[in-house]
Amino acid sequence: SRHYAIVPAAGTGSRMGAAQPKQYLPLLGRPLIHHALSVLCAAPEIDAVFVVLSVDDREWARHDWSGLGPKLKPLFCGGATRADSVLGGLRAIAHEAEQSDWVLVHDAARPCLAPWHVDKLTRELAHDEVGGLLAVPVADTLKRADHHRHVVETVARDSLWQAQTPQMFRYVMLRRALEGARNVTDEASAIEAAGLRPRLVQGDATNLKVTYPLDLHLAEWILQNREG
Ligand code: C5P
Repeated sequence: SRHYAIVPAAGTGSRMGAAQPKQYLPLLGRPLIHHALSVLCAAPEIDAVFVVLSVDDREWARHDWSGLGPKLKPLFCGGATRADSVLGGLRAIAHEAEQSDWVLVHDAARPCLAPWHVDKLTRELAHDEVGGLLAVPVADTLKRADHHRHVVETVARDSLWQAQTPQMFRYVMLRRALEGARNVTDEASAIEAAGLRPRLVQGDATNLKVTYPLDLHLAEWILQNREG
């Protein structure tokens, strides 16, 4: 079966407080999204990389993506939420995807994706019934608070993981799951809502999501200090 990457990049990135959507913020001389796209396009196990852009995206055409090769395909079919954007991408590739093909969904906002992340995820899930996602064990002790910020509970962290991306599921399973659960913040929750159990593949903290301005500095440091 084939492997398709879908990269939702139709968000506005309002939490960054920047004028530009965060996928286009400059990071080491390239648009932020260019870094992950370049790793996905270079991954031998991935057959095509679809970037889901907003219908009125004006920024994509201003940059040069030719270095990423023929696997890269922009789709201008983003939706109101991340899940809608992913679903739009899945519908757009319906003519070429087989039911059992794998889809790897990766956040445009995670620029420090490394080749070994993709490699480990695809290898560990190759024979899995459901699929799964990269994740890291939670290091901090977690508190649940009430509206006055009084702690009401300490959550045992030993079985808690932080979900990352890519998240890898079979085309038909993912599409059905997302069609049934539109208010999810990742693909795995839609799969869980459908009664299935995604598997966690341990990644590492370098695959961070750029949400706040500090994250951009961390991402820059990680990319600059990476071997090879
Ligand atoms: O908002 P958040 O940082 O969680 O966004 C995660 C990813 O989903 C980003 O890559 C963003 O561009 C994408 N997204 C999207 N369509 C939306 C909202 C977010 O593709 N409507």
